Amino acid sequence: MKPYFPPPRARVRYHLTAEPALDSDGPWSPYHPGISMRVLCGEASGPCVALLRYAAGGAMPRHIHLGDEHVFVLEGKSADDNGECGPGDYLFNPAGSSRRVRSREGCLLLIHRLGPVRFLADGEIPGKGSDQFRVRTLLEGPESGNPAWTELRPGVRIRTLYRGGPGEYHAALLHYLPGTRIDRHEHVDMEHIFILAGTQRDEHGSYGTGTYIHNPAGTSHEVRSDHGCLAYAHWHAPVRFSAPAGG
Ligand SMILES: [Fe+2]
Repeated sequence: MKPYFPPPRARVRYHLTAEPALDSDGPWSPYHPGISMRVLCGEASGPCVALLRYAAGGAMPRHIHLGDEHVFVLEGKSADDNGECGPGDYLFNPAGSSRRVRSREGCLLLIHRLGPVRFLADGEIPGKGSDQFRVRTLLEGPESGNPAWTELRPGVRIRTLYRGGPGEYHAALLHYLPGTRIDRHEHVDMEHIFILAGTQRDEHGSYGTGTYIHNPAGTSHEVRSDHGCLAYAHWHAPVRFSAPAGG
């Protein structure tokens, strides 16, 4: 199966306000007039995890997503054909959908693309597209009573955002109550984590709001949250849990 991303070189951790801890794909680069991009993983012209910074008045012309795209609004407000989004809002733009994006006041977006985008010529008809799906992640946690949340481990709840078939990726929100954990597991394929709120830690470090963690295939860890957190997780194969000690 063709990998969605180039093979990772190392575990990668980024914090939005700090320099990358271990690895770097380079600084911000121009993407469109008024929009700059910082690639965290992958390629700007293909599948990638990246930050997009819109200056006030920045606008992205109409484009088609050739692969699925997951978007989180981290700061400011962005607007597209379906209306305006603010901090904590999550958008799923399925492959085949098209949109135009603009930001009156400026914004910072985390984007996770499974394929490139193609910009449309003036007047080009976008063709058939699937609907966009939205979640207001910071307002729709387990306490909201939304039945989409189910218990994964004691005190850790999961809300599936995208459930791929065999060989496909999955995307979900994970909500940890204070003092909870996910047992040691191995990543059979790569895993991307983005901390939306709170803090979690593993044996490699502690990750606060705004941290992106790339766990390459073959790595393992045990994840704990002392004070609770909300995280976005995107994985390409089910993880393999270690046998309990003595088991
Ligand atoms: Fe993991």
